[in-house]
Amino acid sequence: MAMDASLIKTINKLQDAFSTVGVHNPVDLPQIVVIGSQSSGKSSVLENIVGRDFLPRGSGIVTRRPLVLQLINRPASSAAATANSDDETDAKKEPNGEKKEPEEWGEFLHQPGVKYTDFNLIREEIVRDTELKTGKNAGISPLPINLRIYSPNVLTLTLVDLPGMTRLPVGDQPKDIERQIKDMVVKYITKPNAIILAVTAANTDLANSDGLKLAREVDPEGARTIGVLTKIDLMDAGTDVVDILAGRIIPLRLGYVPVVNRGQRDIDTKKSITRSLEGERSFFEGHAAYKSKAQYCGTPYLSRKLNMILMHHIRNTLPEIKAKIQAALVKYQVELAGLGDMLGEGSAGQASIVLNIITEFCNEFRTIIDGNSTDLTS
Ligand code: GDP
Ligand code: NA
Ligand code: MG
Repeated sequence: MAMDASLIKTINKLQDAFSTVGVHNPVDLPQIVVIGSQSSGKSSVLENIVGRDFLPRGSGIVTRRPLVLQLINRPASSAAATANSDDETDAKKEPNGEKKEPEEWGEFLHQPGVKYTDFNLIREEIVRDTELKTGKNAGISPLPINLRIYSPNVLTLTLVDLPGMTRLPVGDQPKDIERQIKDMVVKYITKPNAIILAVTAANTDLANSDGLKLAREVDPEGARTIGVLTKIDLMDAGTDVVDILAGRIIPLRLGYVPVVNRGQRDIDTKKSITRSLEGERSFFEGHAAYKSKAQYCGTPYLSRKLNMILMHHIRNTLPEIKAKIQAALVKYQVELAGLGDMLGEGSAGQASIVLNIITEFCNEFRTIIDGNSTDLTS
């Protein structure tokens, strides 16, 4: 995920510190869930945020089951690190000519142990498994596909891609398709821990936005809903989303971010994410309506906004984390007293080290937040 490097580093430090005392994932990071009408660009937005090509996208109902994507931070292996050094001696080679661990790979829950390093094959497997469970004729299913991506460049975080809202059944879809998809979506966005990306195509009417409508039902205050406006490039000449961005149409506390994703032709010609992001940037910088606010437009800004929300979330959970650590420390000390100093001293020692790291972390964290917090309210 195009995440702030200092944020990744600090959180990993925290997570490492915790795992030394046996607490895994102390920070329950929010799930990011994309919702909106069919073909509004949800899968495209998610893929751009992750920065890898791996999701099926296209016109019609392409996403037909929820995809629960867990990004898992995994430090670069030492083998990979030494491979970059100048010293190219035989000593660096793996024993038995075995292949080195890949830096970055995907793994499906339904295929444990199978490592995908080619992200195109991940997309093919999503399509294959979708068809296996729902047939080829537009059927849907609430049975999620679970995919994990291991990488040194991501935050340990979950993103959810969902089928789009639609009204009339086609193909093998049930008569009550509208309700079935709605139930599916509501299940994911009701969790107070979910950050909702309510996606609306800018060439449709905001007042009819399925995503915003549903987001409002579960998050009436708009405390965890970001509006994402896609297809800005497809708007009629002379129209723009400036009034929406300014909060003059349907105000949202966390605001709106306009983006330009790859169009169908770009998908067909396999335009890369890098080129797509470059194109997006020059679109906003060159457009009369947006050039004065280009820094608040596009995928990189959406990622930064998500970063900020994550940071605020973490800051709010810090007291709880501290309490957890303090309790662990007390527990170790009690154990230690009970056992004499035969055992347990290591654990108590580690717990107090962790407490020190937490305190340091809080300070570091405050610095990062103070340096960035203007972003959120813009
Ligand atoms: P989903 O059904 O909401 O997941 O939407 P997809 O991401 O699959 O996109 C649906 C179609 O809209 C695809 O053909 C995309 O290429 C196209 N699309 C999505 N976002 C944009 C955009 O910002 N601009 C243009 N021109 N096309 C887009
Ligand atoms: Na679609
Ligand atoms: Mg989709």
